[in-house]
Amino acid sequence: MSTMDIRIYGDSILRKLSKPVDSFDEQLMAVAEKMYEIMFEADGIGLAAPQVGVSKAFLVIGMPVEDEEPERLFFANPVILESRGEDSFEEGCLSVPDIRADVIRPEWIKLKYQDIHGKEHTLETDGLLARVLQHEIDHLNGILFVDRLTPARKSLLKNDLQKLAKKGAKSEADLA
Ligand code: CO
Repeated sequence: MSTMDIRIYGDSILRKLSKPVDSFDEQLMAVAEKMYEIMFEADGIGLAAPQVGVSKAFLVIGMPVEDEEPERLFFANPVILESRGEDSFEEGCLSVPDIRADVIRPEWIKLKYQDIHGKEHTLETDGLLARVLQHEIDHLNGILFVDRLTPARKSLLKNDLQKLAKKGAKSEADLA
């Protein structure tokens, strides 16, 4: 397994369309385990494979649970089938450090996905889980939350994003 570090805005892997997961094997489990580790270490609640340099369509989530360890969730090849409503929520991203902004997204989604064994499921959800899932599924399609900001808001972040992009491109070169 190559080095798994969090890739930063400006790294081209974050802009790629990830490939479907087709083998649900020990390698996948090992990468997922490592991703939980990296995510909890960084205090994140969601992490998509491209963010650690793996261009495959899966993601992990650690849903906060009061007084307990976060609940570990895994989604491979997720597809949003339906969505409803609208909700604004402040988002951040481990690949876009130190930037937070309100993003408008549907508040309810229905999706299909495969679990770590490849078994298919459908899920209807709202609230924080729907929010995190949409953010992470965007990653699988090369989309970052800053792409979803209004042009005015995005232009305010332009300098910060340019600085990050330099860092991201550098980390990409170091890892290559
Ligand atoms: Co993110």
